[in-house]
Amino acid sequence: MIFLMDNNGFKGRDIISIRDFSKKDLLYLLSIAKRMEQSPDTSLLNNKIASLLFFEPSTRTRLSFDSAFKKLGGKTIGFAQAEVTSVKKGETLWDTIKMVEQYSDVIIMRHYIEGAARLAAEAASIPVLNAGDGANQHPTQTLLDLYTILKEKGTLEGLNIGFLGDLKYGRTVHSLAIALSHFNAKMFFISPKALSMPKDYLDELKGKNIKFTEAEDVAEVSKQLDVLYVTRIQKERFADALEYEKYKNAYKLDKSLLKISKKDLIIMHPLPRVGEINPELDDTKNAVYFRQAGNGIPVRQALLALVLGKIK
Ligand code: NCD
Repeated sequence: MIFLMDNNGFKGRDIISIRDFSKKDLLYLLSIAKRMEQSPDTSLLNNKIASLLFFEPSTRTRLSFDSAFKKLGGKTIGFAQAEVTSVKKGETLWDTIKMVEQYSDVIIMRHYIEGAARLAAEAASIPVLNAGDGANQHPTQTLLDLYTILKEKGTLEGLNIGFLGDLKYGRTVHSLAIALSHFNAKMFFISPKALSMPKDYLDELKGKNIKFTEAEDVAEVSKQLDVLYVTRIQKERFADALEYEKYKNAYKLDKSLLKISKKDLIIMHPLPRVGEINPELDDTKNAVYFRQAGNGIPVRQALLALVLGKIK
């Protein structure tokens, strides 16, 4: 084994919420991700099988988990839509997990119900990684977001981070805000009032003495930002289609943003974008969202190798 550090207790662990990680865990995982990027071991996961259970649409998360696992020598099974499985016949999630754990070594699951990943982890005796549960949490996205910030800014400490878009339903925002609370970040939550950061998250930040402000217009705060984390309005979470229509065009960022921002602002987005970032920004040095998606590979490799006990 090329890695000599201890496993930090990752072996066999479920990854359900970003709250499951201490600051030390986060930094350890990011250090392993860096090693994965610099010197990947293409036989590390030989004879391992991952189940990819996607009950909700996904492009980046499913394909990067799949690619990450295969690049390390493992194999994957699974489905990208539950309609083709026995769920359609009425099988419970609990029973599905009880089957899948017999066919594989790790389960990676995305589900539309908040708390579904926690339930799956209770059913399974193998590690379960939450690839997004409803509007709740998306911890592996946060790990790659942290890795991106660290690579692009050289530090995670003391940054001014703006979160823009659908902060109510955006699970990537929920996970990232909690993670950044370990790093003395100042947070700027920019959203229409109706889509603001949920109160329980704000209370959690207050309890940790994290400084934050709320705004509706990015221009009010853009000069202060080191990072702007943009999200799409989460259409599928709205109970009322007319409500979505009201907010779908709330933000449309273009090059004019750069005139009212720090020169070295980085613009991130978990993607997919649906109009909130004009492609004219893509070629600017500020846009990092495509590189950010690429960082999903080393970060997910690190996490998989750790929970499978392949890094000692
Ligand atoms: C995000 C998600 O699924 O929460 N996408 C992703 O995993 N990169 C963001 C989104 O769908 O808006």
